[in-house]
Amino acid sequence: MAVLKIPDANVTIDNFKEIQSFLEARGIWHDHWKAEEVLSSDASQDEVLAAYARELKPFMERGGYKTADVINVHAETPNLPAIRTKFLAEHTHTEDEIRFFVDGEGIFWFHAAEEVFSVACHAGDLLSVPANMTHWFDLGPQANVKAIRIFIDASGWVPNYTDSGIDKKYNPSY
Ligand SMILES: [Fe+2]
Repeated sequence: MAVLKIPDANVTIDNFKEIQSFLEARGIWHDHWKAEEVLSSDASQDEVLAAYARELKPFMERGGYKTADVINVHAETPNLPAIRTKFLAEHTHTEDEIRFFVDGEGIFWFHAAEEVFSVACHAGDLLSVPANMTHWFDLGPQANVKAIRIFIDASGWVPNYTDSGIDKKYNPSY
C-alpha cells in the first residue's frame, strides 16, 4: 500500500482512503488493485502484461488508453545510475502518466501549488499523474520496481524538464 509524505509539514499518511482523498483534491487519481501474481525479476514485458490483462483490459477500454508497456528496474539493470538520474529531475508530460505497480517500490514526488509531497507506491498501487503537473520519480534505495505504464499515446510521455532544481532539496543521495 502507498505511503504519502509531506516533508515540510513533517506529515506521513499511510491510510489508503486518506491518501486517496488528499490526492483527489489535487487532481491526482489513485486506486489500489490486487497484485498477487508471482513474477520473476526477469519476467518479460508480455508475461507481466498477460498476468494483469484481466484488470488492464477493461480499465484501458474505459479510459480510451491505447497502449501499455512495462518498466522493470532492478539491481542488475544496465546503466542504473543514468536511469535513476533521468527520473529524479522535476518534469512534466503532455499526457497523464499512469502507473500500476506490480512489484518493488517507486516514489512519485509532486510539486503542486507550492506544496511538495511524495507517494511511495508498492504492489497494487495505481496512480495517474495529470498532464502538465510538475513531478519526479525516485527509484528508492533498493532500485527495484516493476510497473505497467499505460498510455493514450506513448509519445506524450516525453519528459519536459523544468530545471527548477527543487528536486535536489528533497532527493536523498544513494
Ligand atoms: Fe514523469
